[in-house]
Order: sequence, then structure tokens, then C-alpha cells
Amino acid sequence: MLDDSTENLSIDLPKMDSYWMPFTGNRYFKENPRVIHRAKGMYCWSHDGRKMLDMVAGLWCCNAGHCDPRIVKAIQDQAADLDYAMAFQLGHPKAFELASKLTDLAPDGIDHAFFVNSGSEAVDTAMKMTLAYHRIRGQGERTRFIGRERGYHGVGFGGISVGGMSPNRKMFGAMLPGVDHLPHTHNLEHNAFSRGLPSWGEHLADELENIIALHDPSNIAGVIVEPIAGSAGVLLPPQGYLKKIREICTKHGIMLIFDEVICAFGRTGDAFAAKRFDVTPDIMTTAKGLTSGTVPMGAVLTKGDIYDTFMTGPDGAIEFFHGYTYSGHPLAAAAACATLDVYAEDDLFNRALSLEDRFADALHSLKDEPYVIDVRNYGLIGAVELTPIEGQPTARAMSIFRECYDKGLIIRTTGDTVAFSPPLIVKESQIEQTVEIIRAILRSI
Ligand SMILES: Cc1ncc(COP(=O)(O)O)c(C=O)c1O
Repeated sequence: MLDDSTENLSIDLPKMDSYWMPFTGNRYFKENPRVIHRAKGMYCWSHDGRKMLDMVAGLWCCNAGHCDPRIVKAIQDQAADLDYAMAFQLGHPKAFELASKLTDLAPDGIDHAFFVNSGSEAVDTAMKMTLAYHRIRGQGERTRFIGRERGYHGVGFGGISVGGMSPNRKMFGAMLPGVDHLPHTHNLEHNAFSRGLPSWGEHLADELENIIALHDPSNIAGVIVEPIAGSAGVLLPPQGYLKKIREICTKHGIMLIFDEVICAFGRTGDAFAAKRFDVTPDIMTTAKGLTSGTVPMGAVLTKGDIYDTFMTGPDGAIEFFHGYTYSGHPLAAAAACATLDVYAEDDLFNRALSLEDRFADALHSLKDEPYVIDVRNYGLIGAVELTPIEGQPTARAMSIFRECYDKGLIIRTTGDTVAFSPPLIVKESQIEQTVEIIRAILRSI
């Protein structure tokens, strides 16, 4: 097994033609390959043998760091014991164990878990649950959803419909009907360089009342938001905003879905953003950190009332015509159980919370560097927004991504924002090192 001190490891590049890579400039990549073949803790190793500091936790998912031996062993043991058991009408122990562990961690009242394979599937599942829930209760006319501009809810048709990132929607036709969007909460004029949650903007939640009035509450099934929008560039909810959204949904009998695919499992310094913000939705979607990125898995967590509403009809009848061959897959469930144990044993959620100030200090020290127009932080999620190069949006951040990579640092960019979401095991010195690399690049470009 590698340790942090391992330096030079290189591999021959694979043949690359056949792989159509997701969300990637395929032609550029294949001419300028960046292939990762090993990982351990905070580090990954590239094909040309370089050791890279991973300040994005894979893709906001490896919250326990890479290849934690306890998680690796749980997956290996599970693969040897039970590879797969039919997911419909049969069960296996780890899925039940995981549902209990997860709901123990969830906010009070959220006490059931439905397993899926990804964040996108979690979102579509939550939307279908919401529609069916209203219908079972005799309110089948509640079919509309309200998402938010600049929201990211994965790439299923449900997710792109409620999502608000235009490139992800542009090519794909009419999507789901009956979807409206709240305004996003990002405002540089009022909130640039806020530490933590910005103080301006609670009133942006009032727009929900206007949208509801336009469509009439009786037609609205659910509202879905990320507590902190991650993929669109770490957009923070203004203080009081989420509470207000909760109050408005409750008042009108509308389901509130928090998409916690990024926020859950310590990213905000608690098990769920819902807990840190003290706002409990009706449904939460999760994935990524659930298995610390080791095996694909997501979970939709719901209030007991939702589960109970479905548990009617003839004995033995299927209550929810939905599920995946790999819902609660044994390897994923074993990985998730072990991951939750690692989070608890190593107290990683509190570790993230205790690093929040240090992380904020480091990021905000970039305030006066060239091109920096905003710095945002919360828990162990952070972003530095840059002025775009005129006529070339995204180019500045992308050039920083490439320079970082060449200097042994993995970051994430979206638009002209550079985002950070390190594994919760990150050391203060690694945060400092990251910021100094970014500072040097900003001064040199
Ligand atoms: C908030 C949110 N929802 C859903 C998704 C989709 O997850 P996946 O890529 O696992 O389908 C993501 C992925 O980044 C996400 O950030």
C-alpha cells in the first residue's frame, strides 16, 4: 500500500480512443492526458509518476481520504462473502444495517432510506417519491416542481429540469413540464468576500411565495435546492434563507427536498447541512461521501410520514414501483457502513468543523491577489471567484486548473470560480500549501 511519502510512480498510458469521457473536453484531454492510477490519503499519482495533492476529494466525494484501509477491507470482505443478492423481493444484511446507521445520523424525523447508485438517481427518485406521495394522499394535481437557477441536481431528466445550469439543459429538449426556478442567491455587489453565510439576501426566499402564487399552491409538489450549491461554484445560502424556504413550503403543504449530494457527510462540519443549518427538509438526497467515493451509491432519506403514506394498500402489494437492480448493492452497502464507521471513529465531521476557521483564513488571504473578485467558504467547502478574461469565460479558471495540475495540485473549476472541497483528513499545512500555489499562479499569469 502506498503511503504519503511515495514519490515516483509512473505507468504506460492506456489506449484512449474508445473512451467517451463525461463532462470532459475529450479531444484536448487525449492530446494532454491527465491519468490518475493510484491514490492514498490526501494524494493521487498521475500516469507520469507525479504525486498530486487532491484538494477536491476526488469530485467532492472522498471525504475520508483515498483508499482508507478500513473501507478497502470492508469492500474486499464483502466481495468474497456476497457479490449480489436480488434487490427486489429479497434483501441482504448490509443494506438494512446501512439504513439504520444512516437514519441514526439524520436529523430527527428523517427515518427511512431508499438506496440508489448516484446523486442523479437520488434526485429522480426523490422527485418520483414526491409526486406519488401527493397522489396517494388524494392531491394528484400537485405535479409542479420548483428548483433554483444555478442549481445542480445531476443529469437525469428530472435533475436537469429542476437544475439551473444552462449548458446542462440547452441540448436536451423540453425536459419535464411544469418546472419553475427560484432566483439564485449569488450576489457579488452585496456579499463579496463574506466569511461563512452572507448576511444579505434572506428576502430572496420571498420569491418562492410569488412563484407559488403564480401556479397556485395546490399544483405544486416540491421545492428542491442544494443547501449550498456546489457544482455551480459554491454559492452560499444567505443567513435565514433556508429557514424561510422551509416555512413557506410547510405553509403550503409542499415537500422540501434538500439535495445534499455534496453537503452531506461532513462537508459543512456536520453529518448533514440540514443539521448544521438547523432546517429539516422532508427528503434529503445523498451520494458521493456516503461511500467516500469508493463504490457508487446514493441514498434518499425521508421523513417517517412519507414512508407511512406509502405503506397502505393490500398486504404484499408493492408500494412504490421504483428501484434499481443495484439499489443497496452489497459492495456499496459494505463500503458505506465502513465509511460511516470511519467518520465516527476518526471524528471527521468535527475535524471539518474545527478546520473551518483556518480554511477560511487561508482562502480569504487571497482577497487582494490579482483577478480575485470573491472568496466564499463554509465548513470545508470553499471557492475563489476570478474576473473572466474578456470574451473567454471559463478560460482563466481553466488555465489555473492546468497550472495547478502541473504543480501537483488538484482543484476544481466551474465558470471562472476555483473550488476546493478537500478530504476531511486535510492538514493545515496542506491548506496553506494549496493557497500559496494559487497565490503564486495568480501573481504569475
Ligand atoms: C447537488 C448534486 N446533486 C446531484 C449530483 C449528481 O450526482 P451524480 O454525479 O452522482 O449523479 C451532484 C453531483 O455533483 C450534485 O452536486
